[in-house]
Amino acid sequence: MQAERDQWGSKIGFILAAAGSAIGLGNIWKFPYLVGENGGAAFIIIYLISILIVGLPTVIAEVLIGRTAQSNPVGSFKKLSNNSIFWTAIGGMGVFAGFVILSYYNVIAGWCAGYVVESLKGTFSTINNPAMAGELFAGLSSNPAWTLGFHALFMIMTVGIIYFGVSGGIEKAAKTLMPLLLLFMLALVVRGITLEGAKEGIIYLIKPDFSAINERTVLLALGQAFFSLSLGMGALLTYGSYMSKDDNLVNCSLNIVILDTAIALLAGFMFFPALFALGLQPDQGPSLIFNILPAMFNSIPAGGFFRVIFFLLLSMAALTSTISLMEVITAFFTEEFNLSRKKATIILGVFVFLLGVPSALAFGPMQNVHIFGKTFFGVADFFASNILLPLGGIFILIFVGWRWGMKEAIPNLIQGSRKHSAILLNIWKILVKFIAPVLVLIVLLFKILG
Ligand code: TRP
Repeated sequence: MQAERDQWGSKIGFILAAAGSAIGLGNIWKFPYLVGENGGAAFIIIYLISILIVGLPTVIAEVLIGRTAQSNPVGSFKKLSNNSIFWTAIGGMGVFAGFVILSYYNVIAGWCAGYVVESLKGTFSTINNPAMAGELFAGLSSNPAWTLGFHALFMIMTVGIIYFGVSGGIEKAAKTLMPLLLLFMLALVVRGITLEGAKEGIIYLIKPDFSAINERTVLLALGQAFFSLSLGMGALLTYGSYMSKDDNLVNCSLNIVILDTAIALLAGFMFFPALFALGLQPDQGPSLIFNILPAMFNSIPAGGFFRVIFFLLLSMAALTSTISLMEVITAFFTEEFNLSRKKATIILGVFVFLLGVPSALAFGPMQNVHIFGKTFFGVADFFASNILLPLGGIFILIFVGWRWGMKEAIPNLIQGSRKHSAILLNIWKILVKFIAPVLVLIVLLFKILG
């Protein structure tokens, strides 16, 4: 049924592509504002623990399903469950989540690209306070031509990469974009920490104040660890399906997790020293990036240049995430319906663009259209990231831990690794079977019940 499957050209290509999927707006936009709203260093410590006991084991489980079955999420669950309808549907839920997330994530990604263009045009050069920046943002994001234009542009870039396939498109893009992203971030970190008064921001990030921690913080950190690693919908599963069985799966997963975490931390060091230096409070919330930041750059030396760099790096981080979302749905349609990749990407690109239109308009003409008390954008985001992803994650863990089972999973896991530690394998087993699913379930219930 299947034509020959594409594979990653190299192990590092896979690691960079998967890290590219994980590293996105979640790391650079959401992680820093969660840190800022939840007490700085103490939140970071809880986050790191969440990554270790839930994030890493689930990354391994997801990549393992894909690498073993060598198929898209639906095909993989179908194969490993011997055609169970229920488990095939779980794969289908992942593909569905991919559609939903891509449709609204691409809108925000489009704003980032739009802000690169506006920065180059000099739109922000006279914006000197957050209030003015906020007004400008409200104007742009409510302008249908502006949002839909950049939504379309970003979709075209995403489709343009996926069109050229796994090694020829995704891997090449990741190998170019990821090093550049790191370089740009380092430039901004250096800019930030060399500002006068930056030291306090650094202290904020490394000196924990545990009195800021409560159950809510722990749940937020857990949820963020999950979202940041792109877990729960088969993105890493799909990327894992192009992985060679001769490569060390645990080692690759560890690298992906380390890169994702390092970039999130680096994002903290990019924002907080600068925020403190400019005399702003750390708890600026979600509006930081578009509402406050554009004005901040005017108060620092060479700010205009660094503003372009900042929005460029944001766009690159978003692009390596949108391509992984696009790849999940493309793999599904090409493999399950025998469509050619080129045809599938173009049709899907148009379809997802249209699906994203109400989300794009939710900040302008459709801002008063509410479903369950939320805008279209709000519903899509809530439904996907708070319900579909944790639910998918729980099922992935249950599948590997109980249904497909450890007897099958372990030999496939250690295939490609020369040595392995029995103790670490046992810890992974316990985390996958018991601890991680229970913790993700608690996060899910907390999100649903508010
Ligand atoms: N991890 C991405 C980020 O940090 C967001 C994301 C969540 C995602 N789930 C995904 C990206 C699935 C690609 C695929 O921004």
